[in-house]
Amino acid sequence: MSFEPRGKVAVVTGASSGIGAATAARLARLGMTVVAVARREDRLHELAAAHPGIRPYVADITDQAAVDRLAAWVETQFGACHVLVNNAGVPGRSFRGRDDLDDTLHTIEVNLAGPIRCMAAFASLLEASAPARVVNVASVAGKLGVGPAGYAASKFGLVGLSEATGLSWARKGITVCELNPGFIHTEGFPKDSLRASRLGRLVGTPDDVARAVHDVILSGAPERTVPRWYRIPVVLRHAATPVYRSLVSRMGRASGARDRDRDRDR
Ligand SMILES: NC(=O)c1ccc[n+]([C@@H]2O[C@H](COP(=O)([O-])OP(=O)(O)OC[C@H]3O[C@@H](n4cnc5c(N)ncnc54)[C@H](OP(=O)(O)O)[C@@H]3O)[C@@H](O)[C@H]2O)c1
Repeated sequence: MSFEPRGKVAVVTGASSGIGAATAARLARLGMTVVAVARREDRLHELAAAHPGIRPYVADITDQAAVDRLAAWVETQFGACHVLVNNAGVPGRSFRGRDDLDDTLHTIEVNLAGPIRCMAAFASLLEASAPARVVNVASVAGKLGVGPAGYAASKFGLVGLSEATGLSWARKGITVCELNPGFIHTEGFPKDSLRASRLGRLVGTPDDVARAVHDVILSGAPERTVPRWYRIPVVLRHAATPVYRSLVSRMGRASGARDRDRDRDR
């Protein structure tokens, strides 16, 4: 199903920085009206000042009443929503035990329950505006189970949500895409030590992801990994699981040994 973005309406969550800000700016440059959603009002106003097509809207996506008000406002203002980009997310921290419970549940609340809340609130408007697109910004961590456990769990959940709704929502004229970034340098995910290392060139930019969002809006593709080379470990994980597990456990042992050496040197 082809899609012409010019003149259409998009809602982008987590638009006050990083991937969301780059995506909102790109979609506005394509001639879309973009509702940029986040909690930091000053950031949203700065973005809107630089891009006339952007309309700032302050909301916390963990608050269902606020998300329902957002959907009602979009319907009243514009009468349609053709694209919903569920991008807002937090990194969370390691899950070691009871002390990390609140943080882990909050990570799932923002990264998984947030997109569910937004999809629920916008479902009927998206259907009435079809052809329509939902782009769920998940992560390679939602395919490989790496990094903080709450983060990986939230992103595995988002991948499952995208695949299951992708099948059932297609009948309503809505495509659902799981878009899986690898390492991207942003405020919330700075990746400073990786960027300073020999592997620094593996870290992508928010514009790389914004370009991929643009592509999947045009094509209606159900899945996209960005940068594309991150597909290699994802395919290895599923096609040759024992090889993948042995490599990951060797890397885990090596990084554990490096941490122990560093602790001894202190
Ligand atoms: N950077 C990476 O390496 C990477 C890799 C894979 C996937 N991702 C995913 O990409 C998405 C964007 O992350 P980013 O890297 O661009 O990080 P970022 O710059 O920290 O952006 C996160 C955005 O989420 C918003 N947000 C957080 N909690 C929110 C809430 N409760 N309600 C509304 N908005 C909320 C933040 O805005 P406010 O604080 O103003 O509300 C901010 O705009 C996330 O889903 C992340 O998991 C990132």
